[in-house]
This record gives sequence, C-alpha cells and structure tokens, in this order.
Amino acid sequence: MDKHQQQIEKANQEVNKLKEQVKSHEWNLQYHVMPQANWMNDPNGFSFFMGEYHLFYQHHPYDPKWGPMHWGHVKSKDLVHWEHLPIALAPSEDYDKDGCFSGSAIEKDGKLYLMYTGNVWIEGKLDEDLKQVQAIAVSDDGIHFEKIKENPVISEVPEGDINIFHFRDPKVWKHEGAYYCVLGSKTKSNTGQVLLYRSSNLIDWEFVSVMAKGEGNFGFMWECPDLFELEGKEVLVMSPQGVKPEGNDYHNLHQAGYVIGQLNYQTGIFQYGPYYTLDHGFDFYAPQTMVDDKGRRILIGWMDMWESDMPTQEFGYSGAMTIPRIVSLRNDRLYTLPVPELEDLREEETYYSDVLIEGETSLKGVHGDCLELKMKIDVKDATTFGLKVRQDAVTKQETVLTFDKRDGLVILDRTKAGKGPGGVRKTTVSMVKTITLQIFIDKSSVEIFINEGEKVMSARVFPTKEAQGITFFADHSVEIKSLSKWSLKKAIK
Ligand code: FRU
Repeated sequence: MDKHQQQIEKANQEVNKLKEQVKSHEWNLQYHVMPQANWMNDPNGFSFFMGEYHLFYQHHPYDPKWGPMHWGHVKSKDLVHWEHLPIALAPSEDYDKDGCFSGSAIEKDGKLYLMYTGNVWIEGKLDEDLKQVQAIAVSDDGIHFEKIKENPVISEVPEGDINIFHFRDPKVWKHEGAYYCVLGSKTKSNTGQVLLYRSSNLIDWEFVSVMAKGEGNFGFMWECPDLFELEGKEVLVMSPQGVKPEGNDYHNLHQAGYVIGQLNYQTGIFQYGPYYTLDHGFDFYAPQTMVDDKGRRILIGWMDMWESDMPTQEFGYSGAMTIPRIVSLRNDRLYTLPVPELEDLREEETYYSDVLIEGETSLKGVHGDCLELKMKIDVKDATTFGLKVRQDAVTKQETVLTFDKRDGLVILDRTKAGKGPGGVRKTTVSMVKTITLQIFIDKSSVEIFINEGEKVMSARVFPTKEAQGITFFADHSVEIKSLSKWSLKKAIK
C-alpha cells in the first residue's frame, strides 16, 4: 500500500469509530450531506461520473474542528439519497503534506480527474509563508484516486500583482476543446481576484490572465471561484472574504455571491456587472456548481460559516451541505430552487387552502423537525406577518421569519432558536399581492426559498427535540391561499 492509501485507511478507521454515535444524535441531519464524523467544510469536486453524482468535501477526519484537510466523498443517483464512500484524498506528499484544499472534478477519457490545492505550512506561520500549489488525482472507478507523478501541475504563482501565498481552489471546465481553470487569489495589497489558466491535457497549465478583480468593498481575498455559462452569459460565483457590512448586506463573516458578465477567452478578461449575494441567511459559503446529464446547473454550498459557534462539535461532528439547488437566470439575477428530486422524500401531505390569519395561529398537522412546507400567501391588509418554526411554548424557543411590507423586508431571526449563535438577517423581496414560500426544515437547519428562488435564506439552528411547533402570525389579515406540508424521510445512509 502506498503512503496515500495508508493515510486514507487510517482516516477511514477514525471516522468509522465515531459514525454510529453521530448518526443517532438529535441534530444529525436526515436529508443533507454531513460528515459521518468530525469536520466538514467546502463542497469539492461536484460532478457527474458514470451515471452518478459525486460530491467531495473538505474534511478533517480526526477532529470536529478544522485541521489537515482530506477530501470526504459521497455519491448519489438522484441528488437525494447519498451514500458515504471512503475518503478520496489525504495529505501524503511533500506538496500537500498539510492539506488537500478545495478543488473540482472533471471527466477526461473515461476517468475522473480531481484538481485540488496542496497546502504546506512553512515554519508554522499560519497566514503567511504558506506554499499552495495545484495538483491532480485520477480515478478509473470514481472511488480510488491516485495522485499523478507530474504533481504539482502548477507549482509557482505567476508574476504580477499577485499575492504569492494565497493561491488556491481550482475550478476546472472544458471550452472548445481546451481545459480552463480559475483560481482564488488576491493582489499584493489585499484585493480579491481570480486567475485564469488554460491546458490541453489537464497536466501542462499556462497562465492566461488575472481574469477579474474586485473594486471597492469587495473583500481581501476571493476563495472558491466558479465560472460557468448560463443561457449565453457567463457567471462567476465566488466567496469574497472580508467584505464590510453595508445596510442589510454582508453581515456574515465571509460572503458568497456572483457577478454576471462575458469572458473573452482570447484576452482572458471577464467583464462583469454588479455583485449579488447568493443566499441571505447566516450559513452559506464556498458554493460549487456542476452541470448534469439533463443540462441543469446545480449548486451546493457549505451550510455553515467560518468562526461561527457550532454546537454539534461537542458531539463529534460539524458542518453540512445545503440541499442541491438548480440555478437559473431571470432578469439578470440568479434564481436558485431545490432540485425537484427532493419530492421523493415527501410523506403524506397535510393540505390547507384559503385560511385567513390574523393574530397568531397554528394549523393542525403542521409541525415537525424534518419537513417541507410550500405556501402561497396573499398579503392582503397586513403590514407584518410571517411564521415561527422549531417553536416550543415551554422553553420559548423559536426561529422566526417576518415579512414587513413597509420596507419590503424579510427578516430571519434566530435569536431564540436554541443553542448556538443567534442574530438577525434581512433582505428585500417583492411583495406585490402574493408571496410564495418553500421551506425545508431538517434537525438543525432551515432553508427558505422565497418567490420561486428570488431570495434564499439558510441557517443552522440548534433547538431541543421538543421544539417542533409552527405558528403563523399577522398584524392584520393575510390569507394562506394554499399550504402543503410534508414530513420528509431520511435520505442519507
Ligand atoms: C474556503 C477555504 C478554501 C480552502 C479551504 C480549506 O472555505 O478557505 O479557500 O481551500 O477552505 O479548507
């Protein structure tokens, strides 16, 4: 067994020791991808290979806190039922000895190629003096990966106004017969930027350009860039670190958003319009997309935030993925909606129509901690209205979603959600006459899709088991035109 395989074996054994205990814990998510034990962050290598979806993730198999990164691995036939697989990458070589950082996957000649960042700390200084290089690992079966002997395939940061330490997160794609990748970077004076590379074979890479650079309040480093074409335009998704709060925006420690534009493949310059946030909740970072065999662009994000308090850590696990979301372009904005395959998880429906709400009410059969709620609301005369989920009257726990018509705001409040971090996040939505809502609740998460994906808010919440109540409230009358509630089945083995 080579060193890489040995490291993988060791890590798998560690995870196996803990996995039963984690599985039965009350906050363990039922239909979201989570690590079997210990730490998870960014989605990596999201791809479709030999008829199945593959999703890898940043993983520390030895601790519920971040540490030397491995790549955890799950696969699925339908984006809903995921199966855990052995760890795919472990640090084992001089160039990745302190971590296999984020990256992506692409199929070439019937094999699955992973392109990732090898991280090495130099002299123990964490934020400087790190050496980041790009490397490739290949698999015939999509399960066992070998690091290629040509590694690292990109070993030096190019000349120019480019920070020489922070150079990571390759996202690779194919365009007109050539391979391209974008890399997260920053300038020497700490402005986030993205670098573009080109290759004919995924091994020899040529630096093309600084493809895009931030201006103004746009962060000191752009992590996890992802460039893709959607309906004739190009979209650059990225995760800028250190954008300062402005009004209702940018209150999370780091951001994840996008710009829309056009990439000139000759010059390597990407011209783009305004920056928009992808998810207006608390917990969403480093999203990655892939296109599947049906031509759909699908996005998954890490449903947590750096440096946020994670109450599951004391029980031996942390980190989760969002549900997969389909990305579409409407009025020059990205809309994201849950993949329809999630309907497979629905159990018996509880249905209401034309219910007037004034004051605070609950509806028989509408409660739970693992469910989907789909609603159409006629806003009628109310100024403020909304709903409370994961509610418990005795302990006064609740996670509250409020619409305020005066300034067109939707407000997600987890101040009394239970354990873990509290706080409020706000964003605007259109509220002309009706609002549609699709809400996914899992044992320690809430994802809210407003107006068919116009806005999304995701949050981790850590209430007690008893907090299963749902109530609806309005200061003046609103009408629930329709409401469907489904309990959702467990989907992760
Ligand atoms: C983003 C990130 C990446 C890096 C990885 C390390 O969350 O910081 O830039 O590759 O996490 O785990």
